[in-house]
Amino acid sequence: MQFDRIIKNGTIVTASDTYVADLGIKDGRISAIAASLDGADDIVDATGLYVMPGGIDSHVHIDQPSGDGIVMADDFESGTRSAAIGGNTSILAFCMQEKGDSLRHSLDVYHGKADGNCHIDVAFHLIVTDPTPSVLGQELPALVEDGYTSFKVFMTYENLRLRDDEILDTLDAARNTGALVLVHCENEDAIRFLIGQHEAAGEFSAKSHATTRPIAAEREATHRALSLAEIVDTPIVIVHVSNQQAMEEIERARVRGSKVVGETCPQYLMLTADDLDQDELEGAKFVCSPPPRDKESQDACWDGLERGVFDLFSSDHCPFRFNDPEGKLNEKGKKSFRWIPNGIPGVATRLPILFSEGVQKGRIDLNRFVALTATNHAKLYGMYPQKGTIAIGSDADLALWDPNKNVTITNDILQQGCDYSPYEGLQVKGWPVHTIVRGKTVVKDGEVTGQKGDGKYLPRQKSNLVTSTPV
Ligand code: URP
Ligand code: ZN
Ligand code: ZN
Ligand code: ZN
Repeated sequence: MQFDRIIKNGTIVTASDTYVADLGIKDGRISAIAASLDGADDIVDATGLYVMPGGIDSHVHIDQPSGDGIVMADDFESGTRSAAIGGNTSILAFCMQEKGDSLRHSLDVYHGKADGNCHIDVAFHLIVTDPTPSVLGQELPALVEDGYTSFKVFMTYENLRLRDDEILDTLDAARNTGALVLVHCENEDAIRFLIGQHEAAGEFSAKSHATTRPIAAEREATHRALSLAEIVDTPIVIVHVSNQQAMEEIERARVRGSKVVGETCPQYLMLTADDLDQDELEGAKFVCSPPPRDKESQDACWDGLERGVFDLFSSDHCPFRFNDPEGKLNEKGKKSFRWIPNGIPGVATRLPILFSEGVQKGRIDLNRFVALTATNHAKLYGMYPQKGTIAIGSDADLALWDPNKNVTITNDILQQGCDYSPYEGLQVKGWPVHTIVRGKTVVKDGEVTGQKGDGKYLPRQKSNLVTSTPV
């Protein structure tokens, strides 16, 4: 037989084209695309389905300890299983450096958690929390050569944030080695100040998480990160942007000639600060940073997806259980919002939400959907064209979408470790009915057909933003 598998009669959608064709798969890769193919025992009938590159979620936290020793709801097995349920075939997870540890040691720890346990392919960004001269001068260049080509820094979280001089040093090390830096932009000092004021006024409930992390704190830090990158003359990614004013900073930096990529996430389209203001405990389900804002910010983020302010749509999946004293409602979290672990689940719901709310409602077209959810992630993070497109020679990583399938999101269909979804009850139209990783169906009609170990670790090239090909 010429092929291991043929996907027949589907409508193939890439970031640039939409057309009806058959796909031939051999040895995990796409080996033929033609109007009609024969030569396989295994035929998948994709009549009436969209055949898209599998989703790539480049912002996922899994099995990452929080400062208080609270354990995340997903390990690599459950996190990648849930990602596959939602039509993803690769994720980029964060590997967090603990202060005092080397980056290599941190990678050993995360490879130990992930290797052999994943349903889909996984790569790592490193989170730099301790940018010592040896970390930046010796480790970082060696790691870039080894395929770890992107690094995140935080401007917020007391124990994780870097000072401006440390950010400058990290950006400089990235520039010298061809790495790409992602920045979480919120002004920690302003947030501390506001937390102090709120607690002094007796305000301890979850809704204060939103009011102590205002737009101005995000806007100021976004401006500062962009200025620091401009001073060093190196590209950056501004992750999880929540509002118009931060978007304007990105656009202004681009006008000045900076290379900057913006990312937004489903929570900034679908949730608002009012979700945190339910009853004090229920609101904890929506605590993430930056916090969801208001209707105006939601509209701005949609506009940014349509106009190209954002090139990335990621989940920022960061799951903590609700009905578990070790999760959102830990003993300290009940006393004050400041102790509720930051982050919400979303790796399975990212694609259906954007498909239903974006494509079906006419806000973005199918090709933009693919670009925002797969192709741009692969290009920006050095995985293209192995990942992120449908082309001869590319990995056969596919999501087959039924555009007419109506689904009510409930946590149990997501097969994640978390015990709630912030989108419980949301009705979506369009669902990924097959998820195929390197030719193998790992999820079919909501059932897991693969197993842990199907996913492999993915070493990466340097970013196209660094090597200068436009996204
Ligand atoms: O609240 C969030 N976003 N938690 C995840 C960690 C981060 O800041 O990305
Ligand atoms: Zn350690
Ligand atoms: Zn962040
Ligand atoms: Zn994050």
